Amino acid sequence: METCKLTLRGQEYELPVIEGTEGEIGIDIRKLKETTGALTYDPGYGNTASCRSSITYIDGEKGILRYRGYPIESLAGKFPFSQVAYLLIYGELPTPEQAREWRRELTLNSFIHQSMVNIFDNFPPNAHPMSILSSMIAAMPSFYPNYEKEDINTIIARIVGQAKTIAAYSYKKSIGEPYIYPRTDHSYSANFLRMMFASPAEEYFVPKVFEKALDLLLILHVDHEQNCSTSTVRMVGSSMANLYVSISAGISALWGRLHGGANEAVLNMLQMIYADGRNYKKYIELAKKKDSGFRLMGFGHRVYKNYDPRAKLLKEAVDNIFNEIGINDPLLEIAKDLEETALRDDYFIEKKLYPNIDFYSGILYRAMNIPTQMFTVLFSIGRIPGWIAHWLEMRNDPETRIHRPRQIYVGPKERLPHI
Ligand code: CMC
Repeated sequence: METCKLTLRGQEYELPVIEGTEGEIGIDIRKLKETTGALTYDPGYGNTASCRSSITYIDGEKGILRYRGYPIESLAGKFPFSQVAYLLIYGELPTPEQAREWRRELTLNSFIHQSMVNIFDNFPPNAHPMSILSSMIAAMPSFYPNYEKEDINTIIARIVGQAKTIAAYSYKKSIGEPYIYPRTDHSYSANFLRMMFASPAEEYFVPKVFEKALDLLLILHVDHEQNCSTSTVRMVGSSMANLYVSISAGISALWGRLHGGANEAVLNMLQMIYADGRNYKKYIELAKKKDSGFRLMGFGHRVYKNYDPRAKLLKEAVDNIFNEIGINDPLLEIAKDLEETALRDDYFIEKKLYPNIDFYSGILYRAMNIPTQMFTVLFSIGRIPGWIAHWLEMRNDPETRIHRPRQIYVGPKERLPHI
């Protein structure tokens, strides 16, 4: 067994080394406290592997992303979202028969429990759809109380199936229109778009180009290994909390603007630059000044130190789709100017800051008439199968223990109150 030597205060220790299938090396510190008395210090967990996982592989230096071994380029735009969701959750792409059955299962499970619809009605009209989505999924164990004993596959189909219905209903609620029910003859993405835009008075025939674009977007979002929301799902689930509430916690973690909320923030930023006479250079300069509190949203990544492969696929898709439907969006021009200028700027070059997935996704959602507040909801819907895959992997892993990081205490030494 390969080991690594650690010298601490003059004493030498040997620590086991583990290696992943792609040659990633990890120092196994599970016995560190016991043998040396010391902890590791890693705020933000940038150097900590919290588990072994066989779901997603990322090489941030080379810009590689693979789901279950398949390069993202071989899946995105080539499969419907439901089949890639199946791959993530069950480990293999479905056979044609499994794909049909899974799609049917998802649609049959996409109806919201009628009593849950009543809660829905009590949200204020301007409620943020992320708040509605996380609350409704957290409420599911109240309506399906058999969560400890029920077949986990039924729970999975219910969460994946209902997420898009809850999302579309939150939009209908905000515009005061009646809810539209899902249909078994529509794909996952087409069902979502129809529930958003059809009304009892008028059918919405989902344009094929939008259905394919949404499939692509959801697939690009489906997993990204141990990010903030996925680690949250694993952490909550490690206490033996049920799948519904673990997923709801993931949605909350995703909402922040440094994570999934960045797509909404990017669009707001592009609109702000547009309103400011398209003066994008001013905002590049502002992003370089630390004390300005402004960052170029949709730029930078903890893991990618090269072009995010998801952003590359999205940029190509945006160009193709905009040509196909003949849209000209001034915000796309601003985004491209920002990108081009930033990639030539020493600040962004030195810090290896490239556009990430959120940089172009909002422009595509906007072309489909999806309101800005729904962008992170769509990120969540795409990410749910990935979170489920991690929750299952964590639960089935014999090495899983309740997640419980430590800390280095830096507060006051013992003292007594004056009485
Ligand atoms: N604009 C300007 N400077 C930046 C940016 C940016 N977007 N991102 C990072 N930096 C600078 C940062 O100030 C720091 O500089 P210094 O070394 O002088 O202190 C350096 O680059 C490293 O940044 P960091 O914040 O230490 O890196 P991190 O790994 O902790 O954060 C990040 C990663 C994605 C939160 C960050 O790049 C960021 O805030 N980006 C904008 C928000 C965004 O687009 N988030 C979406 C991420 S992709 C979707 C997802 O998976 O969540």
